[in-house]
Amino acid sequence: MCGIIGYIGKRQAQPILLHSLAKLEYRGYDSCGIAVASSGIQIYKDAVRVAELAKASPQLDGTIGIAHTRWATHGEPSQVNAHPHCDCTSRLAVVHNGVINNYQSLREQLTSEGHKFISETDTEVISHLVEKYYHGNLEKAVAAALSDVEGSYAIIVLAADEPKLVFAKKDSPLVIGIGDRENFAASDVPALLDYTNRVIYLEDGDIGVVTEDSIKVIRDSKEIAREEHKVLWSAEQAQKGGYEHFMLKEIHEQPKVIRDTLGEYTQVPQQIVDLEIMRDTGKEPLLILACGTSYHAGLVGKYLIEELLRVPARAEIPSEFNYHGHSFTTRLTIAVTQSGETADTLKAMKMLKEAGCKVIAISNVVGSTATRIADQTIYTRAGPEISVAATKSFIAQLMVLYWLVMVYSKVYSKADAKRAADMLLGLRQLPSKVQQILDNDSAILKCAKYLSSYENVFFAGRGINFPIALEGALKLKEISYIHAEGYAAGELKHGPFALLSADTPVVAVVAKDNTYEAMLTNIKEVKARRAPVIALVGEEDETIEKIVDLVITVPRVNAIFSPVVNTVALQLLAYYTARQRGCSIDFPRNLAKSVTVE
Ligand code: G6P
Repeated sequence: MCGIIGYIGKRQAQPILLHSLAKLEYRGYDSCGIAVASSGIQIYKDAVRVAELAKASPQLDGTIGIAHTRWATHGEPSQVNAHPHCDCTSRLAVVHNGVINNYQSLREQLTSEGHKFISETDTEVISHLVEKYYHGNLEKAVAAALSDVEGSYAIIVLAADEPKLVFAKKDSPLVIGIGDRENFAASDVPALLDYTNRVIYLEDGDIGVVTEDSIKVIRDSKEIAREEHKVLWSAEQAQKGGYEHFMLKEIHEQPKVIRDTLGEYTQVPQQIVDLEIMRDTGKEPLLILACGTSYHAGLVGKYLIEELLRVPARAEIPSEFNYHGHSFTTRLTIAVTQSGETADTLKAMKMLKEAGCKVIAISNVVGSTATRIADQTIYTRAGPEISVAATKSFIAQLMVLYWLVMVYSKVYSKADAKRAADMLLGLRQLPSKVQQILDNDSAILKCAKYLSSYENVFFAGRGINFPIALEGALKLKEISYIHAEGYAAGELKHGPFALLSADTPVVAVVAKDNTYEAMLTNIKEVKARRAPVIALVGEEDETIEKIVDLVITVPRVNAIFSPVVNTVALQLLAYYTARQRGCSIDFPRNLAKSVTVE
């Protein structure tokens, strides 16, 4: 979703801002813009990609500036709705990520006071409010403006007459980058990595001022100190490194991601999660909250917890839970979020914490909002994930969930310690199993070529592979624009069967567990309706290949780990299908990497 960046220093701002803007592209956007201040403010913006903006924009002279990638919420993607937005004098400019809920009433009030609006955006009220309160001190004007505003925001404000950037954050991400006689403010770390690895993570309610050589954070009208952090991600990690797409690179990084995530935790679990929380909650129901791909990891977690620990667990989508979940009481929730910034997940976490529930976050981004709300955070070690479609972060989330179940096992009983040891062994073999899939993907490529000419595909799975059918369908629809639906295989005959024909392939995700025989029956039922079947099966299987049209063979693993190998095969299937169809794989239309609005 919207990305913002601000620069102040000795260098020309325009090339730095455009470079950083390109690093924010992965968040998803439909238009972009830049403003640079010298004697006045020069703005260039349009509903175009960053590369086109860079080519078309005139040279903007100045060493202070702000820039923005917009993901439309209020008003269509257009030149006039793109940020930065100005006040009536054009001596103030604002970039904003978030949503101003009371913008309509503010707009009416400001209009009655003589302000002229030119865009349909909610953001424009901020620039007019700052103008209203501006009497030569930008931070005071921003603070006054924000006291009128309800909603979420990360903003950076620029004034033609002051050599500074003023920023503010509430419920939308913002970090400060500390350079050498230059400073930055940005939506996230990848935008800064080429310039600095020294950052300050801001808290909700922070307002501040950045100059060339100072950073001031203000809370409740008092200056406060915020700790500086060193980012461990390198700039190279956020590059394609010779791969055609970030998605392919990220899929190929997964053996390392598994090793890194496990390596971190299998040594000293006690130090990562305070086991007292688990002891405390005993076998009470657990809640898992997550959106999108992370929700599918959460669903796998639910199956693992219920199956292996016999603890009841619920996986919920926060956008629903936030409106109906009040009757469910739990003392421990696991929030799964790659970015740590998904608005619905954060809202649910806050709500649960207020109700006295402990929250463990599983997140990939150090210092993200979720990690600051949570009582404890277990970090996935996936490194920066740039492709909008999540791949390696999902696998890393699974690793953490497997690990958590292992830790739980130890907490519960000595008998379970044996299972924990077996799991550890299985987990340690996973990097090489995943590598085998990456090294032998010709069958997947063949299936992708086959699928690419269809417009509707079903994915079916049972048990712990039901979430993987959902994830396989999500990956395919996100990046290839083929209509794909994931189904619990047993549910296909309760509706989807009406759609089955020779033009509706079904991808069957099979594991050699207690669901195997039922899956076999379901595949036969589908075949009897003339629908082509592609089956994902373990290499030990000799039965299924005889009854289906195409087979993808995955390495033999204990069935509880089949979600890992099956997912990697389905990621490649989606990737190659999208490539065959010539799609914009890393930045699919209308989608955002980080969904920071409700
Ligand atoms: C967006 C992304 C998905 C991601 C989801 C949840 O929709 O495009 O890839 O799974 O948000 O994001 P989170 O950062 O909370 O895992």
